[in-house]
Amino acid sequence: MTDYGAGLLWVLILASFGLSALAVFFSISRQRRSHPPTVAHPAGEDVTAEAARKIIREFEKNGQSADAALVTWSPETLRKILADDLPEAQVIVVSNREPYIHNVSGNGVELLVPASGLVSALEPITRACAGTWIAYGGGTADRLMVDKDDRVQVPPGNPSYTLRRVWLTEEEHQGYYLGFANEGLWPLCHIAFTRPIFRASDWEAYEAVNRKFADTVVAEARNERPIVLVQDYHFALLPRMIRERLPEAIVITFWHIPWPNSEVYSICPWRERILEGLLGSSIIGFHTQFHANNFTESVDRFLESRIERADAAISYGGQTTLVHAYPISIEWPADLLARLPDVDDCRARLRDRFGLKADVKLGVGVERLDYTKGILDRFQALDELFKRYPEWIGKLVFLQIAAPSRGTLPAYKLLHDECHRYAEELNERYGSDGYKPVIMVAEHHTQEQVYEIYRASDICMVTSLHDGMNLVAKEFVAARDDEQGVLMLSTFAGASRELLEALIVNPYDAAMMSETLLQALTMTPDEQRERMRPMRQMVRDNNVYRWAGSMLLDAARLRKRGDLDRATGTAERQPPSIDNVVSMFERKRVAM
Ligand code: G6P
Repeated sequence: MTDYGAGLLWVLILASFGLSALAVFFSISRQRRSHPPTVAHPAGEDVTAEAARKIIREFEKNGQSADAALVTWSPETLRKILADDLPEAQVIVVSNREPYIHNVSGNGVELLVPASGLVSALEPITRACAGTWIAYGGGTADRLMVDKDDRVQVPPGNPSYTLRRVWLTEEEHQGYYLGFANEGLWPLCHIAFTRPIFRASDWEAYEAVNRKFADTVVAEARNERPIVLVQDYHFALLPRMIRERLPEAIVITFWHIPWPNSEVYSICPWRERILEGLLGSSIIGFHTQFHANNFTESVDRFLESRIERADAAISYGGQTTLVHAYPISIEWPADLLARLPDVDDCRARLRDRFGLKADVKLGVGVERLDYTKGILDRFQALDELFKRYPEWIGKLVFLQIAAPSRGTLPAYKLLHDECHRYAEELNERYGSDGYKPVIMVAEHHTQEQVYEIYRASDICMVTSLHDGMNLVAKEFVAARDDEQGVLMLSTFAGASRELLEALIVNPYDAAMMSETLLQALTMTPDEQRERMRPMRQMVRDNNVYRWAGSMLLDAARLRKRGDLDRATGTAERQPPSIDNVVSMFERKRVAM
């Protein structure tokens, strides 16, 4: 045999050893990992450890996690990225909902932190970046608290950034927020079988309000090159409006809710205008790759554009937009946990508040009262459990915290009535002296109160019919430093892609949910710990600073490339094309 032949033989032998070793490794690690029940996901996959690895690889393909994994993400890391990679960059956040609402209360002013996943995620980021947050001033005392430029320094008591309030007329708010955003886009993007309503007058208000916010961004920008973080479905037209006025700005748009498939999306009478508006962004982010793909499909179907699927880039009208998945998260609540009573005290306090016996198991649901959250489906599962396993009557109480939300809209009024009616029905059917199986509290709760409730519970039910991410699931695991408690999590929430050790459920299947409830009620403390521990690790590592940091790192690369092109004259010779941007991100991946 020639030297070359012998070499080849050795390579083959070693390769076959390597492959067998890999197979053994994966089979062992598969066995070691606790398997959640497998449930079909909207993407058509089963939620298993194998699928998880695939998803992680997908995230990595987007160029996010490999470098992101090398650092511990904190406010300090974000500040460092800004100082090193985006020096002098002013961070401007734009959202409809403001992080602090001032309301008139009696003779004074009351401060409210709204129940919004968006706010809880963006607030620590804006603090860390000392940025400017532009939002609708909807509080009854908001005008009293601002300076002559409509600005107020927040957080109150420890100011670290500027909140710039934008005022809207009644008609604007009705048409843009209640109408187009919440009766049109919200049901359009969520598969919850609530029909979207599109009115021309709402669209006009939506466009006018987006323009008003564009004017405010331009007014607040200290120079031509801010980093603008546009939030959510209230502002689909804003990215292009900013791009037209501040061509050198980096506009990162994050869509906090799902994006539907192109068939569903085609319902929207202004579908092309919305896509064009969004493609004014430098980067568009979604919680999951699945929603990012749906967006790309919609662009493919309705706009003349060039799409590089493998590189997640869309070129439209001479500009390139990257379309990536950035799974949102929470700030790890170390300080909050240190302030809260220990788990036993939380249990005792909550049982006291609601008059529950010490040996009663407590299930909780915490969200805005919204038809996408599957609250009625949860009640149905409870009903089914009591029918199948009557021995649990008297031994389980379900506490539903439902923060009032969009309450003037007919769909929300209907849900409100249906929830109360069903809760009463269950209480009549299964309740007895001093025992009510369902407690509904339709009130706003502070973050501290919500964490106390998480800590006091045995089971947290997150049964959304459809959800971008769902931060309640992440908050619940973060709250459980005792590593106890069971998370039931809808397969239709983005969080189910990450929290693999939760009990994954299909909220449309009451029978299956009732069996899962039983599994949760009877789960041993050891199994609870085994499931809770990796989920806590996941949320701690993949915190909200990593979410924002990944986007800022991508933004920094875009900016550097743009600057380089300008300095070398490439930009004039060759306008920004999809190939330039794509090749840059290819290099980044090769480097990792
Ligand atoms: C969802 C949206 C957020 C919004 C939140 C609260 O999570 O994605 O943009 O802040 O609902 O809704 P609201 O209409 O009360 O701001």
